[in-house]
Amino acid sequence: MSAVDEILEGKDICICAGSGGVGKTTTSAAIALGMAARGLRVCVLTIDPAKRLADSLGMKELGNEAERVDPVLFERQGVEMKGELWAMMLDAKATFDELVARQAPDEESRDRVLENRIYQQISSALAGSQEYMAMEKLFELHTEGRFDLLVLDTPPTRNALDFLDAPRRLTQFIEGRSLRVFMKPTGLAARVAGRGASAALSVLKRIVGFDLIADLAEFFNAFSGMVDGFQARARRVNGLLADERTCFLVVCGPQGEPVDEAVYFHRKLVEAKLPFGGVIVNKVHYPAERLRGDAVDIEGALAARLGDEDLARRVAENFADYQALAERDARNIARLTEELRTSAVIRVPYLDEDVHDLGGLAEVDRYLFASSEERVAIAAGRA
Ligand SMILES: Nc1ncnc2c1ncn2[C@@H]1O[C@H](COP(=O)(O)OP(=O)(O)OP(=O)(O)O)[C@@H](O)[C@H]1O
Ligand SMILES: [Mg+2]
Repeated sequence: MSAVDEILEGKDICICAGSGGVGKTTTSAAIALGMAARGLRVCVLTIDPAKRLADSLGMKELGNEAERVDPVLFERQGVEMKGELWAMMLDAKATFDELVARQAPDEESRDRVLENRIYQQISSALAGSQEYMAMEKLFELHTEGRFDLLVLDTPPTRNALDFLDAPRRLTQFIEGRSLRVFMKPTGLAARVAGRGASAALSVLKRIVGFDLIADLAEFFNAFSGMVDGFQARARRVNGLLADERTCFLVVCGPQGEPVDEAVYFHRKLVEAKLPFGGVIVNKVHYPAERLRGDAVDIEGALAARLGDEDLARRVAENFADYQALAERDARNIARLTEELRTSAVIRVPYLDEDVHDLGGLAEVDRYLFASSEERVAIAAGRA
């Protein structure tokens, strides 16, 4: 077993990936807090964090700018902070706009694209655009070099692999035949624009409420000058993801299916030659050692203590269920460790409460950053 700070030694970028709801946002924030506490200047880029978590870190909605978390907050929580923690909420649409602004040859073409209704739809609806824009922002911040470590949360895709596929899908769209057909000088866009409104087009215009075809034509014409820039940038973003100073952490749950997904995701990372760092198994049930050693007749012991046989029976049943869950989790984690042939498997227990503030993140960090002795105790269910 390793700790997160050992895995992230010498890394510039940490990407927390995994399927929906496993704890990617929580883990990203906890890792960023832990690494900042140890002296680094860290920025976490989160996606749709729960409002309470965002509030507790002082993140402004849709700011798309990194804000430093107020050091006073750490003092209040008793967290010793040697470095700096910065946080931002990713806004895919705003990032896409910034990207267009950067690629546009001049202000006029920039405004033509940004104000175009088709662009406005595409930039928020395009499949994979949120994933891609997350990496764009990452690339931009990395290039600026203001931080020692960037921690990237990833969007809630049902399938963790969608995320890996995003740059390819976006460039495919840009390189795609439909776009090329439109943008050729003799293409549909030019013809439509040239011919003006035919009867059919004016009907369409009445139905959709605006001149769809003219907007499309204008969008593709204005966008065409930026395609090469987009492609070059997408290649650089891909290069950054594959860099040895980048590290992918796979976050998963301890149940059978999430563990299978983590194994699959790990294989895809290796195939794509992307740097795998380790796995974080979140929401693990630990065996309750003390109670187990207490008495063979748990129900009898509980009844004596609680003075209520019915209640004792229900508590004992609940306890037995919990023990079964803990055993199942342990088996799944053993299988995961074996299949991945890695010792970098970190467990975080299912905590009693949701993690929505610095105190909760610090609690998660006890496990993510546990020392080797602490790790032995955690594995034995004694921590
Ligand atoms: N170890 C834990 N113990 C208890 N609750 C947890 C733990 N980790 C995360 N949670 C809670 O589980 C919920 C989901 O966590 P989180 O938002 O981090 O998941 P996610 O993978 O980012 O989800 P999505 O895929 O929807 O973005 C949150 O309410 C969070 O507070
Ligand atoms: Mg999330």
